[in-house]
Amino acid sequence: VWEQEFALIGRLAEDLESRPPLPSASPEELETHSRQIQEMQDLLALMAALPPDRLPDVEAWDDLLAPFWRRLFARGDDIHRYLLADLWRQVLLRSGQTDRALRTLTQVAASAKNFYLYYEALALCQEGRDLARHRPSAGLVNLVTLEGGIHFLRGDLESARRAHTEALALLESVPEEEVLRWQGATKTDFFAQVEYNILEALVEQGLREPESRRDGYLGQARALLSALDEMPKSPEFRRILPVAHALVSFLGSDVTAARGYLALLDTQGSEGPYRYSLALTRCRHESRLCGALGDWEGAYGWIRQALQLGARYTSPGEEILVLEQALAVLTNLHTRSAQGAESHLVADLVQLLEDKDWYTGRSHSRSVSRLAVLVGQALNDGGGVADLAHLEAAGLVHDIGKLMCPWSLLNKIAPISPKERRLLQNHSRDGAALLRRVGMESLAQTVEEHHEHVDGTGYPNGRPPELSGAIVGLCDVFEASITPNRRYKKPKRREAALSELSSLAGTHFRPEVVRALLRVAGG
Ligand SMILES: [Fe+2]
Ligand SMILES: [Fe+2]
Repeated sequence: VWEQEFALIGRLAEDLESRPPLPSASPEELETHSRQIQEMQDLLALMAALPPDRLPDVEAWDDLLAPFWRRLFARGDDIHRYLLADLWRQVLLRSGQTDRALRTLTQVAASAKNFYLYYEALALCQEGRDLARHRPSAGLVNLVTLEGGIHFLRGDLESARRAHTEALALLESVPEEEVLRWQGATKTDFFAQVEYNILEALVEQGLREPESRRDGYLGQARALLSALDEMPKSPEFRRILPVAHALVSFLGSDVTAARGYLALLDTQGSEGPYRYSLALTRCRHESRLCGALGDWEGAYGWIRQALQLGARYTSPGEEILVLEQALAVLTNLHTRSAQGAESHLVADLVQLLEDKDWYTGRSHSRSVSRLAVLVGQALNDGGGVADLAHLEAAGLVHDIGKLMCPWSLLNKIAPISPKERRLLQNHSRDGAALLRRVGMESLAQTVEEHHEHVDGTGYPNGRPPELSGAIVGLCDVFEASITPNRRYKKPKRREAALSELSSLAGTHFRPEVVRALLRVAGG
């Protein structure tokens, strides 16, 4: 049956290429996709458990699967690249195929990076370096370039530059045909890409300095740019070159020139995810340029456009930078506006989540917020001290950390695995971190606690929550259990949900909060 499976996966790989990105797919297409991937996951899990001598021709399978990982990503299904490529990596390792294992590992690490799992991604890179035994190869260059990308997203620009410079040096001694075979790109193009990455890190480093201290960075950036200009380039690379020019103009405080270059970007030129990521790049930089001019309304317009594009097509690595810019814009916009800044900021954050997450969306957040206020009121009627305004806002943003979750996981229609559940569970801590960054410390605590239990069996800290966290947490579970959603879970009837929650009073939930919910929602 191996041949049959082989043919099946081949067809699936072709299929992936020809179908629309998942966020624009019909519900039927989503179902089909998730069924096919599930079958494939079962197959790879089976292979990962077999002894090497019972496996089929691993090299042939790897040739089949190598483009598959990129296509999964391109279709917007990063979560399955992460999980499935990891299974395949184990098969390759056990079969002694270290070069091929390195290539697959790089795909897993790239996904981990896109999920904000920076430490996991860097640990994988370290593992990859050991696999490559530090011998220059196309695989190692690719890995080190990825490492630079991870540092860049983490904001560690010095390490980013160091990694990219190392990648350049390694690339020198890799034969042209090896690069072509492993990368599907020419050596010149790979050089140009890495030089571009160095330029980008350099410009960002310079932009962190006050204008008077940017000269050194500007000089280096200009030198790099003219080197890039003179290199022979493929049409694909030529398309991103205006971004490099825009960045250098931006560093030189010439906003008009920078905007001129961005306007030259050809975002319609090719198909696939790169087209969208280029459009996202443009919107993000336009937004930054507006910000540099103090035009925060304009900056907001551009970044909303980027977010909407990102929600429809998904381009995870770029999305992280878009989100960063969105937070910067929102913070500036709202600290500048007078009264009610915080509530506007809350509304805007929820809007961001609604754009991205079909399931949580606004109705869930709004329902939890409304219910939390009612429960707080009921508690206060009995002499409690719940802060109603706080509950309203906390209910709205309780799941805001899902902004950091991959689209493909948030909107997954198949049942989720324990590993995926752990990824989803990061949202309470991520949400708190995000709120702290925009200066909402008290909301952050409530959000961090909304999945904690009284008996310490909750997450992320395993500590009983404060009152607000307990209220929002209970309302969240109740709302989620009675509302139909797209996951494979039937909604419960109101009475059944309430009696189930009552039975958890004292273990998961605070008894007085459960009683208040029964008063509000019971009749
Ligand atoms: Fe949650
Ligand atoms: Fe929730």
